[in-house]
Amino acid sequence: MSTKDTVLVLFEKNKGFFISGERIAEELNISRTAVWKAVKKLQSEGYEIKAVTNRGYCLDKESDVLTERGIRSNLQDYCKDLRPEVFVRVDSTNTKCIEKAEKGEPEGYVAIAGSQSAGRGRRGKAFFSPAESGIYMSILLRPVGLTENQVLHFTTMAAAAVSEAIESVSGKKADIKWVNDIFIDGKKVCGILSEASYGVQTGKLEYVIVGIGVNAYEPSGGFPSSIADVAGKVFDEPSAGLKNRLAAEILNRFMAYYEHLPETPYSEEYIRRSVVTGKDVTVHKGSEMIRAHVLGIDQEFGLKVRYEDGSVEVLRSGEISIRI
Ligand code: BTN
Repeated sequence: MSTKDTVLVLFEKNKGFFISGERIAEELNISRTAVWKAVKKLQSEGYEIKAVTNRGYCLDKESDVLTERGIRSNLQDYCKDLRPEVFVRVDSTNTKCIEKAEKGEPEGYVAIAGSQSAGRGRRGKAFFSPAESGIYMSILLRPVGLTENQVLHFTTMAAAAVSEAIESVSGKKADIKWVNDIFIDGKKVCGILSEASYGVQTGKLEYVIVGIGVNAYEPSGGFPSSIADVAGKVFDEPSAGLKNRLAAEILNRFMAYYEHLPETPYSEEYIRRSVVTGKDVTVHKGSEMIRAHVLGIDQEFGLKVRYEDGSVEVLRSGEISIRI
């Protein structure tokens, strides 16, 4: 374990209490300068550590920081081969994973960030990814033997996994807005962006990146006005370890489903959580917006809609909007 990690273990044992630099140095058999350097490093990673003259250092009781150790400690045994790497800030965790994949990184790498400077959403939109309030993560997978249609299932699989994980960690009911937005109480708390790469010569699936962005808390300055009406958060109050637990639980649930591919044992669950079934929506087809009524979701996750002229269509992908 690095000096920084041993110092962190001591802080975590004494969370909410001050410990002097001298005592830390003595207990860990390191110099006071090493303690100071470790504290600076931890602070730069987002840990809220107060430093007060004559009292020492104190890790905030409610400090909720994403860490590899914290995530790993909440992973089920069958996920132990996952390789989570936590960044304070990246451009985009999807981009990070793509860079890794292009260099030959095997399946199971997970990029997780506390904030993103260029978070990407669906349809070329930016994904608001401020510091401290969110979980931004991408999983690199190299599935074999899937048809193109089955590859589309990554997104619905992630939506089922995320909604179950949110419910188990927060106790709040999580709904799915087809295809892959997660809602709590009518507000979007999570978006999912899956990207796949196929070999140019072979046409073979090389890798899939599943990117998941969760608004764990409300950002300190609130949501920007452009999304304030629709954006929501999972947790009302910060509490230590919640983000790590939620990130790990998402991975646990997602990997359990991944093992079953091409079967989709989550399909009933996905259909049950649909917030759009029986509602009027707007279907976006390029620049066209068409009003429709949602009749249901089929076993292949197609959205069955009836347009105002009475015609019925099953949408396999695309975008709909709804006022919830
Ligand atoms: C959407 O709602 O349009 C999808 C948003 C997906 C955002 C996540 S955050 C982690 C990963 N990295 C990205 O740049 N995008 C995805």
